[in-house]
Amino acid sequence: MSHYTWNWGSSPPLLKRHSEVKHALLRNYLVNYFLTLVPLPQQDKIQLTIVDGFCGGGLYVNEDGLEVPGSPLIILEAIREAEVSVNLRQNRRKPIRIDVELICIDSNKSSLDYLRRLLEQRNYGEALRDGKVQFVKGEFADHCAAAIQRCHNRSPRSGRALFVLDQYGYSDVPMHCLQDIFAKLKFAEVILTFYIDSLINYLNEKNLALFEQATGINSSMRASDIDEMKQSPRWRVHLQSSLYRNLTDKCSAQFYTPFFIRPERGHGDFWLLHLSQHWKARDVMATTHWQHHNHFSHYGDAGFHMFSTGYIGKIDDEHKLQAGFDFSDVAEAVSKEKMMTQIPALLFAGADGMSFEQFFLELINTTPATREMVESTLLELHQSGEIIVSDEAGDPSKARVNLKSNHILRLPSQRSFSFL
Ligand SMILES: C[S@@+](CC[C@H](N)C(=O)[O-])C[C@H]1O[C@@H](n2cnc3c(N)ncnc32)[C@H](O)[C@@H]1O
Repeated sequence: MSHYTWNWGSSPPLLKRHSEVKHALLRNYLVNYFLTLVPLPQQDKIQLTIVDGFCGGGLYVNEDGLEVPGSPLIILEAIREAEVSVNLRQNRRKPIRIDVELICIDSNKSSLDYLRRLLEQRNYGEALRDGKVQFVKGEFADHCAAAIQRCHNRSPRSGRALFVLDQYGYSDVPMHCLQDIFAKLKFAEVILTFYIDSLINYLNEKNLALFEQATGINSSMRASDIDEMKQSPRWRVHLQSSLYRNLTDKCSAQFYTPFFIRPERGHGDFWLLHLSQHWKARDVMATTHWQHHNHFSHYGDAGFHMFSTGYIGKIDDEHKLQAGFDFSDVAEAVSKEKMMTQIPALLFAGADGMSFEQFFLELINTTPATREMVESTLLELHQSGEIIVSDEAGDPSKARVNLKSNHILRLPSQRSFSFL
């Protein structure tokens, strides 16, 4: 952790380009997310707690020599930006207040000292005095339970909380912390950084058990097989997909994204996983990734069931920069095309059809597409007669833009259908 040190009076640490991209995504996600929490006109505040589990000193110098904010400052700025947007959009008589308590945890005292001074300097003195920003010195894993309790006490009914867990490696966020977060907070979300390439480079016969014990993640490998497996060209792919599956299965979050960031030089990938308990939060994150195309990739193919359709195989070679699925306009067109062929096959199983909600919730974790993209593809298929969408009364729907959750999707009857 030595390359991230903050000492007041000295220049802040360097922020590499890929971390700047991660910060831009965090900021946009937060603003988009706050806007989805827009309250009824008679309400005047939205309450939630944000835990920045590896907060750092809050300031960097980027590769162009400019000062840029770190995660705690980004969170506070995003709250202000969203408040202004909501008040403008709703033309409210009573301005909205996004009442966030930000809990900043860091194991290094000088990072927290720096952050405190920085926030004073940037006009957050009142928030500090009102206890809206809390500082906790220590390891995230040791303070996770208390942070969860605090989130629960502040929002016992909604259980709304966001954990930004920007660990530097891969072993500082144990599985039991993630499980506790999702067990105790109904609407919790986690944005988790995981340096998958460093882990893959580090793992060997001796340290596999240490990693599994520290994290609670199971690699599904036997230590004695590692040396032999490392000879296989599919070793990285195999390990990544089994770690990913184990992590998402065990952490108890219902929804997740498998997107990753690839630094310019083409290796050193890290995951930026978003884990949540509500499809809407997952959809806001997927939408934000589409807004940030060029910098993000995801494992898998364009349509549904991305892991099984094999894109992951193409990222196997560490030394070649693969274009990958990059959330670009082309990727959007390919996603649509792919879904057009996949959807009829996916509906084939259920003769009575399934509701749009059921269809979407079953598949959401397996696609980079947003709800809007899935919805418009379904409507296009409906209009061309490939599938039938019926309304509550059982009649073919006249919907052109939006589907309701209880709209029923099915194949036209007597249609002969063959798998390609
Ligand atoms: C990469 S930096 C901070 C990044 C920050 N989230 C940002 O985006 O600006 C990581 C910070 O985590 C702290 N840290 C390292 N291990 C930790 C742990 N186990 N628990 C809490 N903080 C830790 C370090 O002291 C350092 O300040």
